[in-house]
Amino acid sequence: MAKLALCGGKALVGKNAKWSKWPISDAADVERIAKVTRANRWSYDGPTEWEFAEKFTAYQGAKYGLCCANGTVGIQLALEALGIGAYDEVIVPCMTWQATAAACVDVNAIPVLTDIEPDTWNLDLDAVEAAITPKTRAVIVVHLYGCMTDMDRLQKICRKHNLFLVEDCAHQHGSFWKGKGVGSLGDVSSWSFQESKVLSSGEGGFNMCKTKDLFYRLYSLRNCGRPYAADPPVFGLKKPADMAATTLQSGNYRLTEWQAALLLGGLKRLDAQVKLRDANAIRLSALLGEIPGILPMRRRPEITQQSYFNYAFRLDTKALGVNNRQFCLALNAELNLTEVFEPPYEPLNNCGLYKPLTKVRHHLNSAYRKAINPARFRTSVGTDAHENCGVVAHHQILLNSGKEIELISAAVKKIVDNIDELRAIKPGDIKKYQALSH
Ligand SMILES: Cc1ncc(COP(=O)(O)O)c(C=O)c1O
Repeated sequence: MAKLALCGGKALVGKNAKWSKWPISDAADVERIAKVTRANRWSYDGPTEWEFAEKFTAYQGAKYGLCCANGTVGIQLALEALGIGAYDEVIVPCMTWQATAAACVDVNAIPVLTDIEPDTWNLDLDAVEAAITPKTRAVIVVHLYGCMTDMDRLQKICRKHNLFLVEDCAHQHGSFWKGKGVGSLGDVSSWSFQESKVLSSGEGGFNMCKTKDLFYRLYSLRNCGRPYAADPPVFGLKKPADMAATTLQSGNYRLTEWQAALLLGGLKRLDAQVKLRDANAIRLSALLGEIPGILPMRRRPEITQQSYFNYAFRLDTKALGVNNRQFCLALNAELNLTEVFEPPYEPLNNCGLYKPLTKVRHHLNSAYRKAINPARFRTSVGTDAHENCGVVAHHQILLNSGKEIELISAAVKKIVDNIDELRAIKPGDIKKYQALSH
């Protein structure tokens, strides 16, 4: 008799299990949305937007902040505000959503894809140092998969080589390094509020920055080039002394008052949700760490609060004799979940959604085309995480109670205890077994 649900055995969790859903809203959100609808201010420096911008920036401990259209545009505006453009090299981790590198090519810069640490899947700082050339202008650190790289060392590297540090914080609203919020650790940061994110308005983005000059530039860039007119004044900032200097060529990258209304509600819940996920992740990693063949991710001691867009762990594939795709199928089947546990992102040197050479605007010249060709980079750690050892799940699994957290670890243990059954499935037969388990 088969034991694993994927092979026809009884699933550990029944079909009626109630897993947390995402996104979450409450009655106060509905009222806030209605209030915006009744008002005659739906966009463009509205009161809701700036109330949110000041509160979110204060929560992360940054100096200045402003909303923008989405997290992709946020990275593009960050680079443009820093004066990064044609032929400048920007170091980007290979393991990230395609937007991080796509935004670089969209300002005609060259994303230099760099490998990641095997136990955090965040930037490998030795690889970053090796990638620096006289053309490098910035490093984009992406705080990813509930882990962080060594931010103290990265700040030092950037200072030493006179590089800008851009933080892509799309995954980590509410993370703190030595008590300092992510987004306040570099020169400029970018955030996403897309539906799946831990702070969400369906779509939306944000930038934080260290200096008022960068704020003025970001303001102008997101607002068709208009200079900041201090109407209303925010962050105690007056109009720039030289208005003409912050009248930049740009387009409309603003966000609406309805989105800001949802974000205000989400921000009220954010810290408690981050703390719940963090406590559940610590518990889950402790439980998984006791199972042979399962390797939790490394949590650096400098992290004072860790936010999770995804929870991740690794398989010792040599010991288990199966890869992450097989394992995820078995785990989802045990927990009665559909595609919740899955491999991490495809590294960008071989990613179906990152094809910069297909866009005519990127055909500046043959040297540039060669430089942005993702296939020229080697990223063995990223490739191994995606193809073999990495397992990730959306943060909603960490919003469940301790009981569900224990069920997840029990399901992992059940698979490991019966790994021979999973090993015996021929790759070509996986689909058949998948159908059996539903
Ligand atoms: C790491 C990272 N950066 C940037 C983005 C882009 O954000 P958006 O979807 O809001 O454009 C995402 C979105 O998933 C992301 O995960």
